[in-house]
Amino acid sequence: MSDRPVIAVLLSGGGSNLQAIIDASERGEIPGRVGLVLSNKADAYGLARAAMHGIPTAVVDHKTYESREAFDAKLVEAIRASGAVLVCLAGFMRVVTPVFLRAFPFRILNIHPALLPSFPGTHGPAQALRYGVRFSGCTVHFLDEGVDTGPIIVQAVVPVHEDDTEETLAARILKEEHRIYPMAIRLFLEGRLTVEGRRVSTKDAESIPDFSRRNPDV
Ligand code: GRF
Repeated sequence: MSDRPVIAVLLSGGGSNLQAIIDASERGEIPGRVGLVLSNKADAYGLARAAMHGIPTAVVDHKTYESREAFDAKLVEAIRASGAVLVCLAGFMRVVTPVFLRAFPFRILNIHPALLPSFPGTHGPAQALRYGVRFSGCTVHFLDEGVDTGPIIVQAVVPVHEDDTEETLAARILKEEHRIYPMAIRLFLEGRLTVEGRRVSTKDAESIPDFSRRNPDV
């Protein structure tokens, strides 16, 4: 049994971000291992991905709880039992309550498929297309009480193409999600993040290849 710090990943669907985190961990790019994958949906493909890597899974079906708080209390119990030091939401389609947030202060990360604070909530790529922005992207941030409002850790930008559909834009963004989520986890587990108000400082983050890709003309 590895003694690397344990990460709990919460999801509701396909789990491609989970896969990126598992792969980065197995390659030794993050100093931690996924020790629990928890889903509110029994048919989430992310559970199968976890099983293929021998990672323990749990299903906590929100529909069987009488309140959001009772559901969250169950999540907290399962995560605590796993010994996780970090909780990563990766396509977890539930709004959490203070019961969950207060159990893991500044230990919960979320990934969002837009350049926050633009286009929070659901359907980030569709919102970006509809608005007509030329660039969108993705954001890894600490979770707070709001919807996609917590302090920002890493972002990546992608162009919006003339002929994009929601699907093509979402796919381009997802590729960058897979790149930046492991980066944020690495920074967290290496103790390189400091939060002051809204701002997160990332100690020596520039030493991580491609931490901030820039337009070469800027
Ligand atoms: C991602 O786009 C993520 O940003 C959003 O939900 C999607 C999850 O995708 N929160 P996957 O399940 O990781 O493939």
